[in-house]
Amino acid sequence: MRNNELRGPTAIDTEIIPNDSEHVFEKEALYQEVMMRYYCAILEMRTKLEVLSGDLSIRYRRNPIEFIESRLKKPSSIARKLKRLGYEVSVESMQANLSDIAGIRVLCAYIDDIYEIARMLARQRDVTIITVKDYIKNPKDNGYRSYHMIVEIPVSFSDSVQPVRCEIQIRTIAMDFWATLDHDMQYKKQVEDSEKIMEELRECADIIHQTDEKMMRLRERIHRIDEEG
Ligand code: GTP
Ligand code: MG
Repeated sequence: MRNNELRGPTAIDTEIIPNDSEHVFEKEALYQEVMMRYYCAILEMRTKLEVLSGDLSIRYRRNPIEFIESRLKKPSSIARKLKRLGYEVSVESMQANLSDIAGIRVLCAYIDDIYEIARMLARQRDVTIITVKDYIKNPKDNGYRSYHMIVEIPVSFSDSVQPVRCEIQIRTIAMDFWATLDHDMQYKKQVEDSEKIMEELRECADIIHQTDEKMMRLRERIHRIDEEG
């Protein structure tokens, strides 16, 4: 399968479908077929989000969605996660047990945009919400904030319609900035002073959240002036 040929006319930053399973999965052909489905689910979700973004940007005269990122989980990460959870490493097992093979991240400017996008997605007839984790209302102990949804959408192929799951993370640009550094920290085995760094990261997460909230209130005040003036 030549992955580049699958790319649409728009510039999409989706990582190309892994050409092979890097010898992680026995059933190579099945692996490719299934990954192709996840890739198509990403395309469908991106389109939904871009349509919402266009609609909202006209209504609000600003862009509630700043950026959309997407990725397919790599074979090695799939295998690692399946093993960690105690499942067999196979294509069937990954379909049954993992919900984040297709991943989409939506970056918003403001916290209320996150909830608006989530609400509008949930309202769509062909979007089934499997789970929601609101780490904005309930931040993790380390300070992590983000709105996570596992959704299922039907994707039409040449001979069938298949439900495909994907993970959607919706967060502000500021939360994303924080999460990137936190992610680096989690993958560094030996960091000097790691306790202290984690404590300071936690402080930053709270400050970022306060700033996110303050920016939202300032936006309201500025736009009110706009409407009155
Ligand atoms: P995973 O097994 O890590 O996928 O977690 P989960 O199945 O319990 O789902 P959850 O919704 O908690 O997390 C899903 C994804 O969100 C993770 O794979 C990360 O990409 C991101 N995430 C969750 N917690 C953190 C965190 O503390 N820091 C950062 N940087 N990212 C996080
Ligand atoms: Mg994950």
